[in-house]
Amino acid sequence: MDVKGKTIVLGVTGGIAAYWAAEIIGALRDREADVHVIMTKNATHFISPLTLQTISENKVLTNSFELSGEIEISHISYAKKADLILVAPATANFIGKIATGIADDVLSTTIMAVNAPVLICPAMNDMMWANKIVQENVEKLKKHGYYFVDPEYGVMACGGMGVGRLASMESILGKLMAL
Ligand SMILES: Cc1cc2nc3c(=O)[nH]c(=O)nc-3n(C[C@H](O)[C@H](O)[C@H](O)COP(=O)(O)O)c2cc1C
Repeated sequence: MDVKGKTIVLGVTGGIAAYWAAEIIGALRDREADVHVIMTKNATHFISPLTLQTISENKVLTNSFELSGEIEISHISYAKKADLILVAPATANFIGKIATGIADDVLSTTIMAVNAPVLICPAMNDMMWANKIVQENVEKLKKHGYYFVDPEYGVMACGGMGVGRLASMESILGKLMAL
């Protein structure tokens, strides 16, 4: 997908790689995409909504129940306007939620309501990524048409080496452009 002029909804979840969201927004904006960020509550522990709002130049959604002054329900309006939803980084928890049909925050609810492609970029500790239930959840989502950029091998934030690091910007953008 050529992202020029497209609306990309960037979902950010609560992992250490959340700080990469700032770089991802920059890269998408360089390609003239309109980026709208939705963060889970836990993502806000890792990077501030103010940072992502400033870089994206669009309001950041974190809470479904906030009074926004807009009449349309946020998750429905984001689901309608998205040309693509990119979740980067995606936690094990978040992948588990969407694989089992849980919609208990604004990001998972938006994904449940969307028709546009959803590209998920997991990032987690290597033991978490190797967990059979996490792998089953990923396989299930792939089977249902969700796209993935699998994590890469390298130094873990928690120390040691393994597969679990967020894929490189090149891999993420490469996959996105190929959709
Ligand atoms: C310091 C710290 C780093 C974490 N890093 C990750 C991570 O990289 N990947 C992951 O799947 N979970 C990570 N977690 C666990 C998630 O934050 C936790 O599962 C949380 O419930 C995720 O919420 P969310 O999926 O709603 O954003 C981390 C937790 C802490 C305290």
